[in-house]
Amino acid sequence: MTPSPDTREINADRSDIEALDEIWLFGYGSLIYKVDFPYTESAPVYITGWQRRFWQGSHDHRGTPEKPGRVLTLIEAPKQRCFGIAYRVTLDVFDHLDHREKNGYLRSIQALDFADGDSRPGVVYIGQPDNPAFLGDAPIGQIAHQIFHSVGPSGPNSEYVHLLADALREHDELDEHVFEIDRLLREMRS
Ligand code: SIN
Repeated sequence: MTPSPDTREINADRSDIEALDEIWLFGYGSLIYKVDFPYTESAPVYITGWQRRFWQGSHDHRGTPEKPGRVLTLIEAPKQRCFGIAYRVTLDVFDHLDHREKNGYLRSIQALDFADGDSRPGVVYIGQPDNPAFLGDAPIGQIAHQIFHSVGPSGPNSEYVHLLADALREHDELDEHVFEIDRLLREMRS
C-alpha cells in the first residue's frame, strides 16, 4: 500500500509558530491567488535559496488518487530567489491551512526578505522530495501534458497554472518554469 501523504498530524504541532513574535505565512503557489483565510497585512517578499517547481503531486485538489495532477513545491536552489506574498496571520488559521496543504506539505520556518530590507521568519508549506506525493522532475512537455489532462475537486489543474502565471505577471515577476508551462497549456488548448 502506498504510504499516505497526509501531513496534518505532523503539522499539528504549533510549538515553532507559537515561538514567533509575529506570524507571517509565505505563499508561492495557490496561496498567492486563492486567499481563503483571514490576515491583517500582506506584502510582496522573496525567499532565497529556493525555486518553484511543478514537482508535487495533487491527489486532492487538482487531480485524484488515480490520476494525480501536478502542483508547486519549493526545491532547494542555492543563489536563486523565489517571489511570493507574505500574509500576517494568527495561529488559528493553521487548522484550515494544514487541511488545505495536507497532501505532503510540511511546514517550515524560512527567512523572508521584505522590500524595506528587513528579514523576518515566515511559515512556508514545502513538499519535500521524500514525501509520498512528490513526483519530481520530468521533461517540461510531459509536465504540461499531465497538467492538461488532470482535474480534481478544486477544478482543472491547468487553472492552477494560469491563475498563478497571471498573478506573477501582475507583480512583474518572471518565472520561466511557470510561464513555459502556462504557454504550453494555452498551445494545447488552441
Ligand atoms: C503555496 O502556495 O505557498 C503552497 C503550495 C500551494 O498550495 O499551491
